[in-house]
Amino acid sequence: MRKSWAGIAAAVLLGVTATSATAAEQQPQRIIGGGPIQITQAPWQVGLLLTDANFTFRDSSIRGRFFCGGSIVDATHIVTAAHCMFPAEGYEAQPEDIEVLVGATRLGNGLTVPDEGTRIPVASIQRDQRFVDGGNYAHDYTVLTLAQPIQFSDRAQPIQLATPEEQVLYRTNGQSAFVSGWGSTIPYPADFQGDPPSDRPTDLKQVGVDIVDDATCSSIYSSAGLDFTEEVCAGDRVNGGRDACQGDSGGPLVTLSDNVPILIGIVSFGGGCGDARAPGVYAEVVAQRAFLKADAGPAIRNIARPTLTGTPRVGETLTCNPGTWTSAPTFTYRFARVGGGTLSGPGGAPTYVPVDADAGTQVICEVAGTNAAGTRTVQTTAVTIAARPQAPTPPPTPTPQPPSTPGPDRAAPRITSLTMTSIFRPTTTGSSPFATASAVTRRGGRLSFRLSEAARVQLTITRLANAVGPKSRCGFARTKASDLKRVALQTRSLAAGRNTLTVSGRVNGRPLPRGRYAVRLHARDAAGNLASPRTVTFTVC
Ligand code: ARG
Repeated sequence: MRKSWAGIAAAVLLGVTATSATAAEQQPQRIIGGGPIQITQAPWQVGLLLTDANFTFRDSSIRGRFFCGGSIVDATHIVTAAHCMFPAEGYEAQPEDIEVLVGATRLGNGLTVPDEGTRIPVASIQRDQRFVDGGNYAHDYTVLTLAQPIQFSDRAQPIQLATPEEQVLYRTNGQSAFVSGWGSTIPYPADFQGDPPSDRPTDLKQVGVDIVDDATCSSIYSSAGLDFTEEVCAGDRVNGGRDACQGDSGGPLVTLSDNVPILIGIVSFGGGCGDARAPGVYAEVVAQRAFLKADAGPAIRNIARPTLTGTPRVGETLTCNPGTWTSAPTFTYRFARVGGGTLSGPGGAPTYVPVDADAGTQVICEVAGTNAAGTRTVQTTAVTIAARPQAPTPPPTPTPQPPSTPGPDRAAPRITSLTMTSIFRPTTTGSSPFATASAVTRRGGRLSFRLSEAARVQLTITRLANAVGPKSRCGFARTKASDLKRVALQTRSLAAGRNTLTVSGRVNGRPLPRGRYAVRLHARDAAGNLASPRTVTFTVC
């Protein structure tokens, strides 16, 4: 926007002690901190361009001129700021004054340099009628209805609106969010006198900002007389230098929820740009969700993962807690073994009592939440089920017993010092510490451990995950999804002492697929006592 903010900024900051000239002396930075992004990284971002039709700045050089940001909320609607609808003193923009630029990383100048992306005319403007031009920026909300639908692509996508449940989580100090736009990159302090410096960058930028809680922000901007139930603030209160600025108005403040980007704010105003004392102020999306998107409806996102409570032991009750979700879904529960095998449900009770066969296995609960927005399924982390506790051993008799025939063996065998040599081996040598996946042969591994007594040992190999992350010695290798399952089972009678078992790198004649695996050892002695199972994990590149 072209408006100067110096006036209101200085006014709202009365009472804040200006300790130094800070930002005024700083070097110009990118979008006040941050850096350039491609539109594919924020495909909901749009630019608003002024056409020359009926526009009071009748000047051919202004055609196509960028003046504000905005966000795609569906194929025909853009959310932006109400103050953007007053591009000149006392003039309210009409639909024919505005074009929406979709899918652009780089802005042209509207004349000799074409914009990237697609321009779409505006059919109608729904400005929040409570907004007062020249006032305190309360109710800074506008929805533009497009004359033609947006063709969605990796450069143009709608963004979901935050829900009240998510507001509870994001609206605490320090939550991270992102703001993007083509606004000025030159910081200046809130108490800057005169026309603030600004530039007109052509490339889209984004910066990470920290949410500032309402109490703090409303005391900073106390003289503005705003109702903070309709504002959310973000910036860097320690060092400054991360903020939106002139030209970013109307654009998106975004955070991630359940790995989904959600729109939480609309760039509205701030004292200066990037001043640590004066975070950016955004019109809060949750407060006007229904106005901003007529059919915003419920969302189905899990915002705190489900958990398992109770002792993970045979005979004890495990309870599955659904966690925190948006828009009050109804839940169904399924208990399953890691590696396959449904134990209860779906649709069953949120509890499960492990049976003897579950001892030593890993169990998860899968929660499916369903509401009008759809169904989303999320799993708890796995717990390993312990065997049923042994019958309590009788207290030792203090009187020395004469040697007699041995009684029943009640001591469980123990498996100790379990280690495994690597199952993968790079066949190439070179400077890289990582072998490329194709250059790795799947050889066997050797499992070494001690047994406290002779026992029948059962070895189970389970595939835990099919993705092999950068921390493994495999580099960034990934495989296609496949189910995670038990891949091998072997039972052997072994003597007490040190034992070595070879784990084949092949199963059913085929090399083990890439992934993370667990080898689990169970041992049972002749009297039927069970050892606590031991597990070692390995990676196949
Ligand atoms: N009102 C400005 C505009 O029209 C946005 C200012 C945002 N400023 C800030 N420091 N966060 O573009």
